[in-house]
Amino acid sequence: MRTAAIIVAAGSGDRLGAGMPKALVRVAGLPMVTWSARAFDEAPEVECIVIACPPGGEDDMADAVAGHADVHAIVPGGSSRQRSVAAALAAVPDDVEAILVHDAARPLITPALVTRMVARLRGAPAVIAAAPVADTLKRSDARGNVEATVDRAGLWGAQTPQAFRAEVIRGVFADAAGDELDSATDCAGMAERRGVEVLLHDPGSPNFKVTTPADLRLAEVLLGTGRIT
Ligand code: CTP
Ligand code: MG
Repeated sequence: MRTAAIIVAAGSGDRLGAGMPKALVRVAGLPMVTWSARAFDEAPEVECIVIACPPGGEDDMADAVAGHADVHAIVPGGSSRQRSVAAALAAVPDDVEAILVHDAARPLITPALVTRMVARLRGAPAVIAAAPVADTLKRSDARGNVEATVDRAGLWGAQTPQAFRAEVIRGVFADAAGDELDSATDCAGMAERRGVEVLLHDPGSPNFKVTTPADLRLAEVLLGTGRIT
C-alpha cells in the first residue's frame, strides 16, 4: 500500500520543561523527532513523511531531520494535537492508500513496527500500537485514597503509530468539528466514535512517550546503548 507518515511535533513539551520544543530536545545524540523520521524513512512501505512543527519553527525542524530522512512537507501545527494532525493531513498527497500518525515524543519506534502495522492494515481499516496494562489498577476518591480496584482485563494503553486506510482517516477528520479537535487525544478515538473497527497491535518492546525528564533519561539509555528490539 502506498503509505504516508505524519509526525506530530508541534507540542511545547511543558512537562519535560526543557525550555525548547520537546521534539527538538536531543536524545542519544539526535533531536527526538529525528529518531521517528529516520524509522519511517527506513521502513520500505513509507514513501512520504509530513511533519507538523511549532508555528515559525519550520527551519529548525528541517535542520533537525536533514541528512536523516527525506521529508515531503513540514507544516505549522495547531493549538491541539488533533489540530496538528489535521494540518499535516492536508499536506499528504491524494494518492496514498495508508496514513500512519505518530508522536514525535515516541522516539523508540522501529521500521519493523511500521512494517508489521502496515501489513495488518491490509485486513482492517485501522490498527493502533498499544500495550496491555500490566499494573493492578486503582480508582481514587477525591482525597487521593483508593476507592476501588479496577479489573484490568481487556484494558490497553494506546500508543502511536496509529495506522488508517487513507479514506478512513480523511473521512473522520472531514466530519470532525473544531471542539472535537480540541478535546480528542488521539485519532483512533475519533474513528471509534464513528464506528470504525480499530485493531490493537502490541509492539512487544518499549514504545513509551517521553513526557517527563525521567522518561527522557530512560529513552537515552535505550536508544544509546541498551536498545531492546
Ligand atoms: N503535539 C502537536 N501539537 C500540539 C500538541 C501536541 O503536534 N498542539 C504533539 C507533540 O509534539 C507530541 C504529541 O503531540 O509529539 C503528544 O503530545 P505530548 O506528549 O502531550 O507533547 P507536548 O504537548 O509537547 O507536551 P506537554 O503536554 O508536556 O506540553
Ligand atoms: Mg501535550
